[in-house]
Amino acid sequence: MQHLSNQLRRDNKSIGFVPTMGALHEGHLSLIRRASKENDMVVVSIFVNPLQFGPSEDFNKYPRDTRGDSEKLKKEGIGILFMPEASDMYPEGFSTQVEVEGISNKLCGKFRPGHFRGVATVVTKLFNIIKPHRAYFGQKDFEQAVIIKRSVKDLNMDIDIIVCPIVREKDGLAISSRNLYLNPEERKAATVIYGCLMETTNLIKSGIIDKARIKRFMEERLSGEPLVTEIQYASAYDPETLDALPEVKQEVLLAVALKIGKTRLIDNVLLKI
Ligand code: PAF
Repeated sequence: MQHLSNQLRRDNKSIGFVPTMGALHEGHLSLIRRASKENDMVVVSIFVNPLQFGPSEDFNKYPRDTRGDSEKLKKEGIGILFMPEASDMYPEGFSTQVEVEGISNKLCGKFRPGHFRGVATVVTKLFNIIKPHRAYFGQKDFEQAVIIKRSVKDLNMDIDIIVCPIVREKDGLAISSRNLYLNPEERKAATVIYGCLMETTNLIKSGIIDKARIKRFMEERLSGEPLVTEIQYASAYDPETLDALPEVKQEVLLAVALKIGKTRLIDNVLLKI
């Protein structure tokens, strides 16, 4: 892969990179299409990264569909699919990791210790292997995108990080590989997340900017759904620092993480006021 990338760069071809863990859906395809428009060559990686899963998380059952994924990429006309094995990425003796301090312990990071260290490490490795000019991430994993941008800046990596809008089902549910875990009842219940984000947006637009009220409104709306088993966070945050805001100003991130049954789902909207 490094040899290929060096050759592309020597030929003055721009490289757009879309890192994924496979089980490709419309969200991934939207990133790939954007990358195709903006670059001479698109590289998609598929690697279910063991480093970013906690011991009690879903690494083993994470959906894998290599054949289906390759077919989808062929249809999109994608040039290069990079699919390393865990033993290629983490050979014996591997002992260097990338930790983006502070921000990795907010929102999802609070509930998934070590997760963002695993993400920042694998993405840095993939960047070094693929040598892209641009890399594409979805806004659904907002915290991940902030962390990657930070690491790229801090470590002087010469790569543009492009964050693309969330792709939603018709009823508003953000498309995610983990939606596959939901049974039909849970799938229906999951629409509570987008409903809550939209109603909170309207609340803020109507002039309610006090964070405590916004948080209470969001939590009450989400806990009104009986299949919600845990609300991990639901509030208004500063989109740069991911700190809770005392009062909503100019730009605000409304973000939610919760469990429906055993499935953890996240979603967010970014508002400019
Ligand atoms: O968002 C994902 O699918 C993963 O976190 C990523 C960026 C591919 C790293 O494993």
